[in-house]
Amino acid sequence: MIDKFVKVKFEKDGDLYLTKYTNNSTLKVAEFYKDKPFPDYKNGETKQSLLEIGDKNLVSKYIKNFIGYNKNILEVGSGTSQLSLYLAIGNNNNIYALDPTYNSLKIGSEFAKNNKIKNIKFVQGDIFDDIFYENKFDFVWCSGVLHHTENPELAFKILCRYLKKDGYLLLGLYNKYGRKILELRRYLSKIFGEKIIDLIDPVAKKLKKNHQKRKYDSWINDQYFHPIESTHTFKEILKWFDNNNIEFISSIPSTDYLNNYDNLIEKKSRPDDLNSIFLQINMNFNEFGEEGGLFMFIGRKK
Ligand SMILES: C[S@@+](CC[C@H](N)C(=O)[O-])C[C@H]1O[C@@H](n2cnc3c(N)ncnc32)[C@H](O)[C@@H]1O
Repeated sequence: MIDKFVKVKFEKDGDLYLTKYTNNSTLKVAEFYKDKPFPDYKNGETKQSLLEIGDKNLVSKYIKNFIGYNKNILEVGSGTSQLSLYLAIGNNNNIYALDPTYNSLKIGSEFAKNNKIKNIKFVQGDIFDDIFYENKFDFVWCSGVLHHTENPELAFKILCRYLKKDGYLLLGLYNKYGRKILELRRYLSKIFGEKIIDLIDPVAKKLKKNHQKRKYDSWINDQYFHPIESTHTFKEILKWFDNNNIEFISSIPSTDYLNNYDNLIEKKSRPDDLNSIFLQINMNFNEFGEEGGLFMFIGRKK
């Protein structure tokens, strides 16, 4: 079955499929995540608790319902693959979780094994090696990943190839304007020391309060010490969409300013320049800025 999806040579290591990659930036990023895989699991996480976490997140819950059954799904940069596992639970979809970081995938695959989740394949590899066949997937999810690569636009182009016609993708990236508040926090932590992060970063504060030490470490590491990071704008991503035959469907934050996530796949108005600037700057003053200024675009392949 996997031969129908992965076009390069791979080795089998337990439940993992390993492809060789040599890109220096990818090796550097994989090394970065080796000791602090992202996102971390809380102690005693179960299939049920993962399902509850996914259902609490209105975006993942909506997308999972929208996908339905009997589909091929790819998550690019799945890390420990919590989202992929959530999408796999309770249906017959065929999920591929791709990430270069061995330790992250291993955690995901152990979880799948212990919880008897069988419809997911964990593939170690690099998006730049273009390891999948074209037009294979009904949904491609890639969030929090491309801004940690050396050429996000090229990586986007590659992942668009994997989508079938009328297939959907979700892309999540750090926003150039919406991440300003995080950059300010990072700057302050350099002047006043790391301890100040606990006072000024709402996510870190909450994780600390709830004694989620490993999640806390992995958040601080990812947000404050990443070796490769870029930020992006609405305008730029609209251009990527146009260049790769992807129709804009909706964004988070949304152009109708409502941010209710129960119609994410209904086509919204395309953000114009004024709309975009307002939405992006505004991210600094709401939960988007609190959580690092990540924005999402959903598109459909024409
Ligand atoms: C911040 S983590 C995000 C993990 C997951 N997507 C999430 O949102 O929880 C970034 C992930 O991107 C992966 N990544 C970095 N470079 C990559 C590349 N060239 N190809 C595929 N994945 C990559 C890293 O290994 C890491 O697991």
